[in-house]
Amino acid sequence: MERIARSDAATHSIRRVQNWNILPGVIAGATRRSLAAPRHVRSALLKSIWIELKRFGAPNVRNIQLTDIDGIGDVRVEGPVLRHCPLVLCGLGALLDCRTIFEFGTNRGDTAWLLAHNLPRARVYTLDLAGPEAVQSAELELTDADEYFRIWDRGARFRDTAEANRITQVFGDSATFDFSPYAGVMDLVYVDASHSYSYVRSDTEAAFTMLSAAGTIVWDDYTHYPGIYSYLNELASALDRPIFHIVGTRLAFYSRRDLVRGHAGFRADNRALEGLSRD
Ligand SMILES: C[S@@+](CC[C@H](N)C(=O)[O-])C[C@H]1O[C@@H](n2cnc3c(N)ncnc32)[C@H](O)[C@@H]1O
Repeated sequence: MERIARSDAATHSIRRVQNWNILPGVIAGATRRSLAAPRHVRSALLKSIWIELKRFGAPNVRNIQLTDIDGIGDVRVEGPVLRHCPLVLCGLGALLDCRTIFEFGTNRGDTAWLLAHNLPRARVYTLDLAGPEAVQSAELELTDADEYFRIWDRGARFRDTAEANRITQVFGDSATFDFSPYAGVMDLVYVDASHSYSYVRSDTEAAFTMLSAAGTIVWDDYTHYPGIYSYLNELASALDRPIFHIVGTRLAFYSRRDLVRGHAGFRADNRALEGLSRD
């Protein structure tokens, strides 16, 4: 009884808290932590600030919210909660009903599997270097040597799974690979191999040759690698359609479909999408 009486009283006492009320505590805490916290914690803070600045200052890539993508709210995808960006990628693929997908950079095959799993009518082609020896002879500037070239388990995630028969692994250096068999047929191209300016430029040029009339290119790590950020901001001013960055993710995309509300080319009744949709 006593407990109920107390909680009743609490319900009736209103305490309004505004941002300026918490400001002194936040400043004091940030100052204390920036002096006492280990170096990697400070670096993480600076990195977040730098990412926000890059986003805010992007000269040509346009920032949008995920909710600006028409219809995305109705899309359901399944996968590990920690892999937020690949889930958003799958959401885009599902929204666009993509049937042919090309991924630059297989690695373990996590995203290739996720795409095949969430898009049961899609075929996924995924390209990676042929083996550790190919690293030495790469045509352009490779990145992330410590992270990706120590263990070689390309495609391990989807091997022997139900999705494996819809995933085709192809091998080669993306700078010299022959993309001509895929010319003009890919509904979705996902660029996520080497993150240097030179490779992203080369991979993007190849992506455009493979793109279907209603195709979409998604780049991972736009916010995290200066080469990708720099190249996409240059490219955006030269394209027929915008490159959008989805705030809250690392992703940027270009689409031949009118997806984004409030941007040039978007048709509110989405006739563009209907005209292109398949059975
Ligand atoms: C970021 S990981 C890919 C992760 C994968 N897309 C995923 O989401 O699960 C990058 C991969 O690209 C591959 N890669 C790097 N440079 C490449 C190149 N020039 N040609 C082909 N693959 C490359 C690396 O071997 C590595 O496996």
